[in-house]
Amino acid sequence: MTSKSISFTVLVAILATFASKVLVINPNPELFLKYLVHLGPTSSIIIAKFIPFNFDDFRRHRKHPDKGKPVSICDDFPPNFPPPETNTTLTLCVDRNGCCNFTTVQSAVDTVANFSMKRTVIWINSGIYYEKVIIPKTKPNITFQGQGYTSTAIAWNDTANSANGTFYSGSVQVFAANFIAKNISFMNVAPIPRPGDVGAQAVAIRIAGDQAAFWGCGFFGAQDTLHDDRGRHYFKDCYIQGSIDFIFGNGKSLYEGCQLISMASPVAPGSKGINGAVTAHGRASADENSGFAFVNCSVGGTGRIWLGRAWRPFSRVVFALTSMTDIIAPEGWNDFNDPTRDQTIFYGEYNCTGDGANITSRAPYVQKLNDTQATLFLNTTFIDGDAWLQSFNS
Ligand SMILES: *[C@@H]1O[C@H](CO)[C@@H](O)[C@H](O)[C@H]1NC(C)=O
Ligand SMILES: *[C@@H]1O[C@H](CO)[C@@H](O)[C@H](O)[C@H]1NC(C)=O
Ligand SMILES: *[C@@H]1O[C@H](CO)[C@@H](O)[C@H](O)[C@H]1NC(C)=O
Ligand SMILES: *[C@@H]1O[C@H](CO)[C@@H](O)[C@H](O)[C@H]1NC(C)=O
Ligand SMILES: *[C@@H]1O[C@H](CO)[C@@H](O)[C@H](O)[C@H]1NC(C)=O
Ligand SMILES: *[C@@H]1O[C@H](CO)[C@@H](O)[C@H](O)[C@H]1NC(C)=O
Ligand SMILES: *[C@@H]1O[C@H](CO)[C@@H](O)[C@H](O)[C@H]1NC(C)=O
Ligand SMILES: *[C@@H]1O[C@H](CO)[C@@H](O)[C@H](O)[C@H]1NC(C)=O
Ligand SMILES: *[C@@H]1O[C@H](CO)[C@@H](O)[C@H](O)[C@H]1NC(C)=O
Ligand SMILES: *[C@@H]1O[C@H](CO)[C@@H](O)[C@H](O)[C@H]1NC(C)=O
Ligand SMILES: *[C@@H]1O[C@H](CO)[C@@H](O)[C@H](O)[C@H]1NC(C)=O
Ligand SMILES: *[C@@H]1O[C@H](CO)[C@@H](O)[C@H](O)[C@H]1NC(C)=O
Repeated sequence: MTSKSISFTVLVAILATFASKVLVINPNPELFLKYLVHLGPTSSIIIAKFIPFNFDDFRRHRKHPDKGKPVSICDDFPPNFPPPETNTTLTLCVDRNGCCNFTTVQSAVDTVANFSMKRTVIWINSGIYYEKVIIPKTKPNITFQGQGYTSTAIAWNDTANSANGTFYSGSVQVFAANFIAKNISFMNVAPIPRPGDVGAQAVAIRIAGDQAAFWGCGFFGAQDTLHDDRGRHYFKDCYIQGSIDFIFGNGKSLYEGCQLISMASPVAPGSKGINGAVTAHGRASADENSGFAFVNCSVGGTGRIWLGRAWRPFSRVVFALTSMTDIIAPEGWNDFNDPTRDQTIFYGEYNCTGDGANITSRAPYVQKLNDTQATLFLNTTFIDGDAWLQSFNS
């Protein structure tokens, strides 16, 4: 790769821009900062890292400029990068500062051949990529490789109102099969809905392709953050933040070792009002083989929320071996205020821990699963992983 060197003077100019916070990163800094301020304690720390990360990285160069030599912002690539194309893998490189072939993620996706059987790894350097990204059905086998979910993010700010419906509001929308994302965040930075707002749902990513895997990824938004739409999906060691129905859709998915963080408004002690839900699973009939399984996860953050509500009558969700704080309401779940759904929804809990996991006052339809019943949901066999799921390093 050719690395473009820039002079120290230019670098200082860039640093000055960075010093004024996220201004270069987001065309609407005011909105973005407002969003940051509203985040829960854990998430503000995590998002805050986006800013110092870039800033420190740049400052490092300023502090230790190679004496006399021009300082480059393009020095940080791994050696021999990108690797040459093989008969199984093509690597494309994206860097928002123009240090390699592509400056936007979408422009890299656009050059991927239709129906390629080869895996295309789109390597995305640190930074927030403020763009809407669509992977059409004709482009299976794409990997997004970021530099850590607190370092690389794709962000946009469509809402149900601005995008002609929640389903099209996703900052990233994946319609292709065999998508993989590693160590990257997906964000929707639209204004956080206030109570009573209509059409303010804002999806960070929609996953509508089969056999997708997410490793060490972040999902940031408020209402409807993660649209786990359809197909079999795997999430490992991910950070998922939202308020209402923040993991929703009709996917068949296993979430392992993930942090689920509610950013619903804090409620007064003793208040009975509910202001959020982790899941809204959309299984509509007994014929559908979909469901969400959460294993070895943690649920925390702010507000007073349900683990799930029955968006469709056959909604199916299991929480197993998961710790929950007292933000979970004692009844735990909600049938969408439609008691006819109590007969058909499948809401199970198994060996969970923490103040929120006390099942004494759970809604009557909630099932305390026994070992046999739980087995089905506890590992990647739930999503037929043997047939398609590869390890993180492959
Ligand atoms: C990327 O850039 C290198 C030169 O820097 C070039 O050889 C290569 O063909 C480019 N690849 C793509 C996919 O544009
Ligand atoms: C998204 O941000 C842009 C740029 O700041 C702004 O013009 C637009 O109105 C925002 N869209 C929504 C739906 O908030
Ligand atoms: C890819 O190339 C290797 C040798 O470089 C060869 O052994 C292998 O069969 C090839 N695979 C395909 C799918 O063509
Ligand atoms: C993929 O197919 C679409 C039409 O279906 C076409 O517009 C596009 O140029 C194709 N992309 C590539 C990289 O061949
Ligand atoms: C590419 O995608 C096709 C269709 O989804 C799938 O059958 C194939 O196994 C994938 N290949 C790789 C290398 O992931
Ligand atoms: C990348 O993701 C893996 C798998 O979740 C995780 O173990 C690793 O710490 C992550 N690395 C970075 C740099 O975020
Ligand atoms: C908006 O959505 C409606 C119904 O989903 C559809 O009929 C219409 O064509 C869409 N309009 C645009 C501009 O996409
Ligand atoms: C459960 O998750 C924790 C981190 O949250 C991890 O350290 C531990 O290895 C996981 N246990 C299993 C059995 O995967
Ligand atoms: C769940 O709890 C039961 C009862 O304490 C225990 O026998 C079982 O081994 C636990 N299952 C797992 C997978 O930890
Ligand atoms: C669970 O909740 C019930 C009633 O809400 C309470 O009596 C019981 O002490 C709680 N158990 C634990 C272990 O906190
Ligand atoms: C587990 O629950 C199922 C369904 O209620 C029941 O048929 C089965 O006998 C139970 N198994 C054990 C080991 O208790
Ligand atoms: C998942 O658990 C089942 C039942 O314990 C077991 O038969 C299966 O081999 C496990 N699959 C994996 C991938 O570990």
